[in-house]
Amino acid sequence: MLSPEVTSYLEALIPKREREIEEIEQYAKEHNVPIMELVGIEAMLQILKLVQPAKILEIGTAIGYSAIRMAKALPNANIVTLERDKERYERALFYIEKTNTAKQIHVLFGDALHLYEEVADYGPFDAMFIDAAKGQYLRFFEMYEPLLSKNGIIITDNVLFKGLVARAEQIETKRLRNLVKKICAYNEWLMDHPRYDTVILPVGDGMAISKKRGE
Ligand SMILES: C[S@@+](CC[C@H](N)C(=O)[O-])C[C@H]1O[C@@H](n2cnc3c(N)ncnc32)[C@H](O)[C@@H]1O
Repeated sequence: MLSPEVTSYLEALIPKREREIEEIEQYAKEHNVPIMELVGIEAMLQILKLVQPAKILEIGTAIGYSAIRMAKALPNANIVTLERDKERYERALFYIEKTNTAKQIHVLFGDALHLYEEVADYGPFDAMFIDAAKGQYLRFFEMYEPLLSKNGIIITDNVLFKGLVARAEQIETKRLRNLVKKICAYNEWLMDHPRYDTVILPVGDGMAISKKRGE
């Protein structure tokens, strides 16, 4: 993982965002909404700019921050994003309206594990971004990867989970230890997946980039 000093250094180099975007960052900070870390989202946006996906599926909208950033970075892309928390879903709609990204972003309210049929109507997707309940990553991947186009990519956030994956046995609380074990199991499963090539980058909270082999 990047040290706090290097992270601050990189953050200081990142250009200021538009006022509406910084307002969402501020709201997230004040209300403890877990949105993507700045260095992490910048890295993801750069990868997406290289891939130029026409359709993106995001699992875990929160208040719309990453979906809005993707829409602004990729003006020709359409994004379907899933959120199960009513208050966050509504706040996401508010910010999407405010940032003029409603034409590009479609938010579906509900548990991602129960939205497959609805999501399938929008597929196939050229990129997917998994950023919801960490203990369910494997299920999200298995459920939605059939909707990924040939050569598509799947990005999973938080796969290093503050570095805890490297010291799972030292974690004292059972609940956290079990969650970290699930993330470790997901990482191993993903790195071994016969149809995907994956690299884990130590930016943000750890990001896995999985590319479908496309044979
Ligand atoms: C880390 S936040 C997403 C942050 C967002 N991607 C961003 O960077 O702006 C994770 C969100 O996923 C939602 N979530 C967790 N499990 C979910 C599920 N099974 N279905 C839908 N949403 C889920 C949570 O309510 C939370 O708002």
